Amino acid sequence: MRSSTTSHSAFDFKSYLSDRRDLVESKLDELLAQREPAILWESMRYSALGSGKRIRALLAISAYETIKRINSDTTQNDQQINPNSQSDRASSKSEIELQKFLAPVLPLSCAIEMVHAMSLIHDDLPCLDNDDVRRGKPTNHKAYGEAMALLAGDALLMRAVEVLICSRDIQQHIECNSILLDITRALATATGAEGMVGGQVFDLIYTGTGSSAAQSCASSAPDANLQSAGLNGSNNCQELNDHTGSQSHSKASAGDTSSTQLNESVIRKIHAGKTGALLRFSLWSGARLASANQLQLNAMDQFGDIVGLAFQITDDLLDVTGDVETLGKTPGKDQTANKATWVAVFGVDGAREKLQILEDEGKKLLKAEGLSNADGPILESLLEMAIHRHK
Ligand code: IPE
Ligand code: IPE
Ligand code: MG
Ligand code: MG
Ligand code: MG
Repeated sequence: MRSSTTSHSAFDFKSYLSDRRDLVESKLDELLAQREPAILWESMRYSALGSGKRIRALLAISAYETIKRINSDTTQNDQQINPNSQSDRASSKSEIELQKFLAPVLPLSCAIEMVHAMSLIHDDLPCLDNDDVRRGKPTNHKAYGEAMALLAGDALLMRAVEVLICSRDIQQHIECNSILLDITRALATATGAEGMVGGQVFDLIYTGTGSSAAQSCASSAPDANLQSAGLNGSNNCQELNDHTGSQSHSKASAGDTSSTQLNESVIRKIHAGKTGALLRFSLWSGARLASANQLQLNAMDQFGDIVGLAFQITDDLLDVTGDVETLGKTPGKDQTANKATWVAVFGVDGAREKLQILEDEGKKLLKAEGLSNADGPILESLLEMAIHRHK
């Protein structure tokens, strides 16, 4: 593992993270305050609060701070507190002021974490990945039963939308409602059929192709197709093909009719949807809330693509190299289910090589697009965190 960005010795990334994580945790606690029906809110709180890494929330916050800093540097008349500046970092007054500065982006970050919690609850269900452990404790359906897990996920999703639309802190901050409309629309796209849910469906369609993909990639034999995925793969995939009617329909759904072989572009498509879309949205929306211009938004999107792919490749890698205590979830599940992962196609070394490339690309992009902060390389450090994490 390469060391973190050490050239910026004044930047204390650990404190940066823990200050912001604390704010996110307490805001989430407030926004998900227990109410009726008690069992539903209990189940929602069970999965949304606690020991998540909060990387999506941190990306939104960091993008927001980055754009605020750039804009205040440019206009030079921004009276707001800039928590990245040397003087503000050095002072100990910052907790309340930091909270004030970040007030608009905290509800957004919490909304993203609620959507993420929903995705984890549903991903763990027996009809999808069938996992028993999440964040070091029993999965939601193990604790509350499948019906409540399903409903808690639904409720978290809609609570996220409600939080976004109703937040006074956001409304007081934005100059016009189109910003909030844009963010809400983009969240729907990132979460729905064109984003996370679509990616989960591609994941399902290609479940069962993992090992055959590795073999066929090595031998170039074109036999690792969707049909064999359906016939040789998991029950989930068989079920999917049953319900979509025919193999050819499934092929069309996969949007890859010319080449049904599991390859890099397929893996990229799965990862960009199931994981990349929300990570990308996190960066983009933080920037949009901070009134980023179109060039900055495009750059955030590009950076989001890199972070999203790197994050899921690391997740694939940790499934092979991690242990349950550290991960807080059961390792080895991808291989057992014969999942279409980066590791299945390119191996552990191939995954590590790709991560190195993505890390270099991401840092280069931030520099080239002026999103790098010499005082505090927050986006660079988050990219490193996405790649070099152990859980
Ligand atoms: C796990 O996400 C699911 C994926 C998209 C890979 P995280 O690794 O961010 O999970 P938490 O929130 O830290 O538990
Ligand atoms: C999950 O991907 C993606 C979403 C939750 C949308 P994985 O299935 O790889 O995540 P883990 O490994 O269970 O956390
Ligand atoms: Mg999954
Ligand atoms: Mg899973
Ligand atoms: Mg995984």
